Amino acid sequence: MVTVKNPKTSRKRLAAHYLLLVVAACFLCSTVLIVSREPASSAANGVRGILVDAHSASKMVNKPHLIYGTAWKKDATAKHVSEAVKTGFRFIDTACQPKHYNEAGVGNGWTAAAQELGLGRGDIWLQTKFTPVSGQDPNNMPYDKDLPVVEQAKVSLQVSLKNLHTDYLDSWVLHSPLPSFEETMKVWRVMEQAVNDGLVRQIGISNCYDLDTFRLLYQQASIKPAVLQNRFYAESHFDTGLRSFCKDRKVKYQSFWTLSASRKALGTPQVKELAEAKGLTPQTYMYAFLMSLGYVTPLSGTTSLIHMAEDVAVMERTQGGETMFTEDEQKEMAVILGMPRL
Ligand SMILES: NC(=O)c1ccc[n+]([C@@H]2O[C@H](COP(=O)([O-])OP(=O)(O)OC[C@H]3O[C@@H](n4cnc5c(N)ncnc54)[C@H](OP(=O)(O)O)[C@@H]3O)[C@@H](O)[C@H]2O)c1
Repeated sequence: MVTVKNPKTSRKRLAAHYLLLVVAACFLCSTVLIVSREPASSAANGVRGILVDAHSASKMVNKPHLIYGTAWKKDATAKHVSEAVKTGFRFIDTACQPKHYNEAGVGNGWTAAAQELGLGRGDIWLQTKFTPVSGQDPNNMPYDKDLPVVEQAKVSLQVSLKNLHTDYLDSWVLHSPLPSFEETMKVWRVMEQAVNDGLVRQIGISNCYDLDTFRLLYQQASIKPAVLQNRFYAESHFDTGLRSFCKDRKVKYQSFWTLSASRKALGTPQVKELAEAKGLTPQTYMYAFLMSLGYVTPLSGTTSLIHMAEDVAVMERTQGGETMFTEDEQKEMAVILGMPRL
C-alpha cells in the first residue's frame, strides 16, 4: 500500500525536529562553555572531577601555556606562588639558588594553594634548576662548594625535592653550561640518572646561547633536553637559530625577560592598538604571540593580582582553541619586535 503524506504536515514536523535539534545543540554548547570557563577557584570547595581536571597541569601540558616564575620574591614567595595557583597558573619555575629564589617558599606556596583548591601533586607542574657554584652566593650555598660537581648536583636535587614537598620533579634544568663541555656532560649524566631513577620526568638547560654547544649536548645526550630556558632579547637575535633547532626537535623554548627586553616595542601605540583589538594588553599580546608559535613557553613572574588574572585569561583563551594570531599577524609582530625570523 502506498501512503501519500500531506506535504504541509511533513514540513511542520521537519521544522519541529530541526528546532529541537538546535535547542539541544545550544544547551550542550553552553554547558561545555560553562564547564571550561569555570574559574579555578570554583574548585575551592574541594570538588574534584571535571572542574579541577580542566585546570590540571596534566591536561594543559601539551597545549600552549605560561609558567609562573618565582625569582626575586624573597619572603613573599609563598604568598605570590599561592596567589598564582589560585588565579589559575599550574606551571611553576624555580631554582635551588637562594641568591635569587626562595625554593622552600615555592614549596609552601604551591602546597597551601593546592590544599585550599583540592588539587593534587599531579595537577601542578614543578620545574627547578641545579645552579653551579658560579651562579651561587658563596655565603648562602645550598650544597658544599668543595664537593665534586657531580655530587653537588645530586645534593641539589635532594634539597629541591625537600624544599618543594615532592618526591619527583616534572622538569629539572641545568641553570647554565659549566666552564667546560666535559663538565656540562658530567652533570648531564647525573640528570639522566635522575630520570632513570624516577626522581625527575624531564631535563633541560638554561642560559645556553650557543647553537653549537646546544647541538653537541643534544647529540651526546642519551636523554635529550626537553627544555631550553633562555633570555628572549634582541642582543641574541631572539635566539633565531636555537629556536629553529628546538622547534624541529620538539624541544620547548622557555622565554624569560620576555616583557622587560621588549618594553619599548610593547609601549608603542601600534602594539597598544593591535592588543586592544583582541581585548588584550600589550603584555598579554606578547605572551599570546609567543604561545601562538606553538613551541615557546613564556615565563611570567608578575606579583600583581591583576596581571596574574590577565595572564591566566590569555592562557585560557589560547588553550580553549581560539586562533589568537594568524600567520600574517605573527609576522607583523616579529617585525615590530625586530626578530630576524619567526
Ligand atoms: N634561567 C634564568 O637564568 C632566569 C633568569 C631570569 C628569570 N628567570 C625566570 O623567569 C621568570 C620571569 O622573569 P622575567 O625576567 O621574565 O620577568 P618578570 O619577573 O616576569 O617581570 C616582568 C615585568 O613585567 C611587568 N608586567 C606588566 N604586565 C604584566 C603581565 N600582564 N604579566 C606579567 N608581568 C607583567 C611585571 O610587573 P608586575 O609584577 O607589576 O606585574 C614585571 O615588572 C623569573 O621569575 C624566573 O622564574 C630565569
